Amino acid sequence: MSFCTTHLCKEVLLLHLGRGSYQNQLCRSMSDKFKVEILDAKTKDKLCFLDKVEPNATIGEIKSMFHKSHPQWYPARQSIRLDPKGKSLKDEDVLQHLPVGTTATFYFRDLGAQISWVTVFLTEYTGPLVIYLLFYFRVPFIYAPKYDFTTSKHWVVHLACMCHSFHYVKRLLETLFVHRFSHGTMPLRNIFKNCTYYWGFAAWMAYYINHPLYTPPIYGEQQIRLALIIFLFCQIGNFSIHIALRNLRPPGSKTRKIPYPTKNPFTWIFLLVSCPNYTYELGSWLGFTLMTQCLPVAFFTLVGFIQMTVWAKGKHRSYLKEFRDYPPLRSPILPFVL
Ligand SMILES: NC(=O)c1ccc[n+]([C@@H]2O[C@H](COP(=O)([O-])OP(=O)(O)OC[C@H]3O[C@@H](n4cnc5c(N)ncnc54)[C@H](OP(=O)(O)O)[C@@H]3O)[C@@H](O)[C@H]2O)c1
Repeated sequence: MSFCTTHLCKEVLLLHLGRGSYQNQLCRSMSDKFKVEILDAKTKDKLCFLDKVEPNATIGEIKSMFHKSHPQWYPARQSIRLDPKGKSLKDEDVLQHLPVGTTATFYFRDLGAQISWVTVFLTEYTGPLVIYLLFYFRVPFIYAPKYDFTTSKHWVVHLACMCHSFHYVKRLLETLFVHRFSHGTMPLRNIFKNCTYYWGFAAWMAYYINHPLYTPPIYGEQQIRLALIIFLFCQIGNFSIHIALRNLRPPGSKTRKIPYPTKNPFTWIFLLVSCPNYTYELGSWLGFTLMTQCLPVAFFTLVGFIQMTVWAKGKHRSYLKEFRDYPPLRSPILPFVL
């Protein structure tokens, strides 16, 4: 914010910033450079003091300076906040635009060891793909030895394997070539949690679907065909939404915009839902449940639905907070319901 000398400007600044911040703005105009102190968010101990920091320095740059004095905390694992319990500032936030004085005080929290998002997703999704195939090919030590490397007599088992593999290959390719993530990294500990979830469920589902005593769906071919249509429809829908989200963000940027329906009819669901990729994901797994008629698959669908609902509600709230003109008709994940 620029420095104003007129009475009116002072009043406006006082109203907007409060007296303390106004005085800070005044002081700032007199001295070009900032002093920055970084305190531990938990203990309030002073960890670092940076003298003569350029006013247009970004939080990302301040993190790099802090890293020089504390090499164990590389920038990706730093959370820098204005308030010890507040939200992390963005790397692109500029020092002079923040509500701080000429001596800016920031609070630091260690986010723990980090790992790149792409590595996380590739690990998460390669696991289910490989694990499912081990059960499908009935490698030794899973079922009785007489079934080693035998194949199922039910065609739905082969179809299910194709659908499951297709789903995860699609996710891997989307991770590599479609998604434009805004975060470079995530905490290393998350990978253990996420892999346990995806790998564990894949093994549990695959064990039953590929079991030599597996019984095909009760309504036979009709049920399987309907399930396949639902599954494929939702896979195309999910992919269409991922493309629409990608196109919202120019390469290399972190912009967030309101997604709107495009010419692709699969994206028209944006009229009613904030996170239709989750809606389609749910549909895919409902289709897979119908196709295999297998309880662990239904359970995986339910757990995924609960998790995606929590995320969709959070994203929906953020949209409402961030965009005043956000379409009011939208629900987080299920039109008019949830
Ligand atoms: N079965 C399950 O349990 C389960 C659970 C979760 C996800 N999934 C699958 O994994 C897929 C990806 O999940 P996700 O949670 O990463 O989905 P997401 O949060 O909707 O993000 C998908 C991509 O779009 C970007 N994006 C989202 N909203 C945007 C906006 N308004 N403007 C610009 N870019 C935006 C995201 O960037 P950011 O990096 O900024 O977020 C990310 O790169 C899902 O669609 C679903 O198919 C499955």
